[in-house]
Amino acid sequence: MPEEKTRIPADRMPRHVAIIMDGNGRWAEKKGVSRIKGHTAGMEAMKEIIRKSSHMGIQYLTVYAFSTENWKRTMEEVSGIFKLLVQFVKLDLSELDEENVRVRVLGDYSVIPEAAKKSLDKTLKTTENNTGMQFNVAVNYGSRAEITRGVNRLAEQVRSGEIEGEITEEMISRSLYTGDENGNIPDPDLIIRTSGEERLSNFLLWQAAYSEFEFTDLLWPDFTPEAYEKLIEDYAGSDRRFGGR
Ligand code: IPE
Ligand code: IPE
Ligand code: MG
Repeated sequence: MPEEKTRIPADRMPRHVAIIMDGNGRWAEKKGVSRIKGHTAGMEAMKEIIRKSSHMGIQYLTVYAFSTENWKRTMEEVSGIFKLLVQFVKLDLSELDEENVRVRVLGDYSVIPEAAKKSLDKTLKTTENNTGMQFNVAVNYGSRAEITRGVNRLAEQVRSGEIEGEITEEMISRSLYTGDENGNIPDPDLIIRTSGEERLSNFLLWQAAYSEFEFTDLLWPDFTPEAYEKLIEDYAGSDRRFGGR
């Protein structure tokens, strides 16, 4: 895929963008339709953002699709979300594949409904040799659960003698979903949240140590590639200091 002309110089492009796709429910409420219709519209927005990211030359895109806390929602909403995921794979996997996008999952998706789990497995398999943008979808993801799981793994390695001496930051990073098992994804340069909420909601707590943040009042289904590009431009104009000066 040829890269699109953007006004952003290559050395200012974020390597990794992570997005908290929020506001589907409020979008639906405003329109007087069911929450599931909001998630359906959100799925369409996500497809456009994946395509745009890949064309802009972003190397890693991570989206928060379902959190470990989202199980608290009604069964109807939860099963609707997972049905949409199955539908997305059925209809759009070939396009992702043609774009040379490699898909990975962050989170414990072994416990999601069987059909959705199978769809994800198929997606991972189909795209595993692709060399373009890496698209990470966070499903049943929660950062505290991720860190707890990583720490338990390290504790096990200490017990078995595989790790001798101190546990380092590097070891903790590598034990997370974003670590060894998914190709050591670099920390996100930019985290975007839509819908006017300004919090992390248990997303990438460790990885966000030096991320820049961009917030927009747009509800996720209303988020367009143009609005996205504008936020990336804002980011590109920012001065990241990493604790220096
Ligand atoms: C984000 O939209 C999608 C998921 C959490 C799955 P919400 O469903 O949280 O939408 P609001 O926040 O209720 O508007
Ligand atoms: C965060 O949004 C999770 C996802 C976008 C998947 P929520 O809508 O679940 O978060 P809170 O409840 O507003 O913090
Ligand atoms: Mg929300």
